[in-house]
Amino acid sequence: VNPAHDIDPEEFRGRYGSWALVLGASEGTGASFSRRIAELGVNVAMASRRIEPLNELADEIRSATGVEVRTASIDLSSQDAINSAVALTGDVEVGLLVYNAGAEPKRGYVLDRPLEESLKLLGLNAYNPLVFVHHYAAAMVERRRGGILLMGSLASAIGKAHMAMYSATKSYMNRLAEGLWMELGQYNVDVVNYVADLTATAGLLRHKEENDAAGLKTSNFDLSSAALPEDIANEGLEALLHKRGPLRGPGAAPRYDFANKRWLPGDEAAMQAVAEIVRVSNMAFVDRFGLAPLVDPASPAPA
Ligand SMILES: NC(=O)c1ccc[n+]([C@@H]2O[C@H](COP(=O)([O-])OP(=O)(O)OC[C@H]3O[C@@H](n4cnc5c(N)ncnc54)[C@H](OP(=O)(O)O)[C@@H]3O)[C@@H](O)[C@H]2O)c1
Repeated sequence: VNPAHDIDPEEFRGRYGSWALVLGASEGTGASFSRRIAELGVNVAMASRRIEPLNELADEIRSATGVEVRTASIDLSSQDAINSAVALTGDVEVGLLVYNAGAEPKRGYVLDRPLEESLKLLGLNAYNPLVFVHHYAAAMVERRRGGILLMGSLASAIGKAHMAMYSATKSYMNRLAEGLWMELGQYNVDVVNYVADLTATAGLLRHKEENDAAGLKTSNFDLSSAALPEDIANEGLEALLHKRGPLRGPGAAPRYDFANKRWLPGDEAAMQAVAEIVRVSNMAFVDRFGLAPLVDPASPAPA
């Protein structure tokens, strides 16, 4: 664990205990979020479609940490996903929501793919992030504490052919997180959208192998530069706890290197500049249009 991303377990439990809900939890960054949250002493409810890997991870986490773990099979692209989540967590206090699922391994023009596939991605990355935040953040606001962590992508930086819906939905998540950061922050509910670049998740490695075997070039990326899921989990949770702005991660403030025709990760100063731009433009917006004033996120947290 990078010492710059240290998390005090007591502080973490005080803000987010006693339960976290991790959506898309069975592998990759989702599994890392679940493990790290449990290590910090918070019980975890975990969901994804396949129940077997989820239950294996639940056993591992229980024996490693002693926290309570619950699992459920939920398809987050479906419109009734929230009902299954409420059945899983209805009797406990969820103080932390991690919406991790959301990768799109397939490539192709929007018009060449069945509309149904694009609508499913809309469900997974736009409809349900909203529905889940609407449900779980309401109770957090009542309690005046809690956290929402969304998983974004550097693909949000620009609309991309062959992954138009993926880049569009991830861009939606960036804007949703920025607005929620202003709205919910007033009630001491933290919001971060972790904007990941290439990450060595089980899903990514599987698709690379499949694509390589099929002779496709879509997996021609350099895994040696990929981030590790456990680092992302820790950095994301630390940024949430320490209120480090709405967008974090290497893709939070990307710059384009025209000479080499590639995206460069945003540095710390650039990410802070993004938070400042969101803050200042929001404060000016409510003032200019006579909307209900916002509490400035730079002011001390409400009690
Ligand atoms: N890997 C990268 O290079 C990369 C880069 C940038 C951003 N990200 C973002 O990081 C997050 C995690 O990505 P990932 O590579 O680990 O792949 P992922 O396909 O999002 O899978 C992560 C987890 O989500 C579950 N999941 C996927 N679709 C689901 C659905 N419809 N309903 C419920 N659970 C679902 C998977 O289990 P089941 O299959 O059993 O459901 C798995 O446990 C995503 O939001 C992705 O966009 C990843």
